[in-house]
Amino acid sequence: MSKRKPVFLVALALMLVLGSVVGARQKKIVVGFAQVGAESAWRMANTESIISEAKKRGIELIFVDGQQQQANQIKALRSFIERKVDVIGFSPVVTTGWEEVLEEAKQAKIPVILTDRGVDCADDSLWVTLIGSDFVEEGRRAARWLAEKMNGQANIVELQGTIGSAPTIDRKKGFEEVIAAYPGMKIIRSEIGDFTRSKGKEVMEEFLKAEGNRINALFAHNDDMAFGAIQAIEAYGLRPGVDIIIVSVDAIRAAFEAMIEGKLNCTVECNPLLGRHFFDAVEAILAGKPIPKRIIVEEGIFPQEVARDVLPTRRY
Ligand code: AHR
Repeated sequence: MSKRKPVFLVALALMLVLGSVVGARQKKIVVGFAQVGAESAWRMANTESIISEAKKRGIELIFVDGQQQQANQIKALRSFIERKVDVIGFSPVVTTGWEEVLEEAKQAKIPVILTDRGVDCADDSLWVTLIGSDFVEEGRRAARWLAEKMNGQANIVELQGTIGSAPTIDRKKGFEEVIAAYPGMKIIRSEIGDFTRSKGKEVMEEFLKAEGNRINALFAHNDDMAFGAIQAIEAYGLRPGVDIIIVSVDAIRAAFEAMIEGKLNCTVECNPLLGRHFFDAVEAILAGKPIPKRIIVEEGIFPQEVARDVLPTRRY
């Protein structure tokens, strides 16, 4: 009887060790994610992609909607730090003003992943990676397409996104860079439309009131603003897609429907399906694996002519 005791104790110790290893492995990953808001159909698809991917992987996601306010996002990041989440993800509504809170995350040793939009901070050790589109290239793509369509001659109005946000700054930059080579292409009006349909309509009404029939092209920084502008153009008595050639960004399903109706001429893709890339990065970071500082997703451009064929394949 007494000879059996050591064997029993060794077995018990082994079970305890194994149990704690399995337990450690099974500890749920907790991720805090501060979203920009719900300003566009693109954003809703992006949110859905993040939430469904977390669910699929059994990761606990604390999701906060920033309602397009930097203060809300900063508050959310601080609450994630307090809750000691494993990783923080966020899509910054604007590029500046993040140093302090990102420094707090760094002090708390919580890795930060930027998705979709970048920040303008000198110290790039404050985040691990930025996953998303090349917004400058999106602006260039829109301009190249428009220059060809208009034979290098156009009076363009521009609906910009949210002031100070990465896609607004970069799309404008890329667009202007390309049209600079065409002396006949001019941006005659450019205003903030905040990436929303209602603001897009309101600003387009102002453009039409000021410039009327002089306008023959529109560059909208997203599809939602283009839809608002289409309503304004029709109410003004002009034909969107014919009298005013329209190129926008995102390539959501509704843009393909508008192109089939002949009201939108071209949409440049901005891919919102970042959930898989985001949680791949989360898992890699927690496993101590190196990941690139910048992960750019693949995107295309869709003119009206291909809309009917492509629509059935669109996922958002
Ligand atoms: O940051 C991506 C942009 O934000 C999308 O183009 C726009 O629709 C969204 O609101």
